[in-house]
Amino acid sequence: MRRILLDADTGIDDSIALLYALKSKNIHLEGITTCFGNSGAAQSADNCLRLIKLAGCSYEIPVVAGAECSLEGVYASAPAHIHGDNGIGNVVLPESGQKPLEEDAADFIIRRAKELEGELILVTTGRLTNLAKALAKDPHLPRRVKRLVVMGGALDVFGNVSPFAEANIAGDAKAADQVFRAGFPMTLVGLDVTMKTFITRQNLEDLEKYCKEENRPIVEYMKQALSFYFEFHRKSMGLVEASVVHDPLAMLIAEDATLGEYRMIYAGVEYQAPAYEGMIVKEDTIPQDGRQEAIAACIRVDSHKAVRRLFSVF
Ligand code: BDR
Ligand code: CA
Repeated sequence: MRRILLDADTGIDDSIALLYALKSKNIHLEGITTCFGNSGAAQSADNCLRLIKLAGCSYEIPVVAGAECSLEGVYASAPAHIHGDNGIGNVVLPESGQKPLEEDAADFIIRRAKELEGELILVTTGRLTNLAKALAKDPHLPRRVKRLVVMGGALDVFGNVSPFAEANIAGDAKAADQVFRAGFPMTLVGLDVTMKTFITRQNLEDLEKYCKEENRPIVEYMKQALSFYFEFHRKSMGLVEASVVHDPLAMLIAEDATLGEYRMIYAGVEYQAPAYEGMIVKEDTIPQDGRQEAIAACIRVDSHKAVRRLFSVF
């Protein structure tokens, strides 16, 4: 059983990653923290609560709203053309009776890591701001968790917010740099693999036919939200009734690392030169700053297996 804390900027693809985690028998969600990005952190938390309700989850998952801006106090407005005005493709899900926990997100991450005594896997599908804040409060955090899986970055491919940078990393490059250099046992799931993995309208039509009856409302939600997302991919990439798969791939890899192949790297993130902000900077030699772990950067993935598995839980 993977015991996962998700940090997300919920987001259409974040929402699919969350629904997968809620439905996979191999995952127990230990909590969710949210961050600004695809929507505000408070909106993201509300989205998560509604999605938990939609999934009819049998156990309570604490949700904590986190950073509303970067470490430097910057908040770039949410990309409504990608994720809609509410982050989940303008789909209005029924409200949840559960309220977000009134706890600082960084404190919550540290507390859950301690409580789970080395068993916690952190999965981030947004900016790394909450995690950087947690690190500042507890520099031992990297040794308290089993693994950190980050959706973000572009190594050997172009970025999606600049030629060099991916949105989650560029959105708070300073926070990302701190996390990359902290010595977490870390897996990076970036555009190198997420841009080569696709979900299509056909997948959704198949799902409609074969899903479990109890999951029909989830499938209906995915159809609506993904229609919005497909439209963005049509306009921006020329994809027809399809999208790439960012955040769900990170969740799938957190559950089963054998889906991917990895290159071990030591790296930081450029955060000072504006033109290169968010660029991952690889280091050629083992750093002498006492870092324990190299980062496992995912360079190939079994996309067919990943997508099959993604939809198999519904
Ligand atoms: C990442 O940016 C966000 O829009 C997505 O949710 C994903 O986490 C992809 O660059
Ligand atoms: Ca995201």
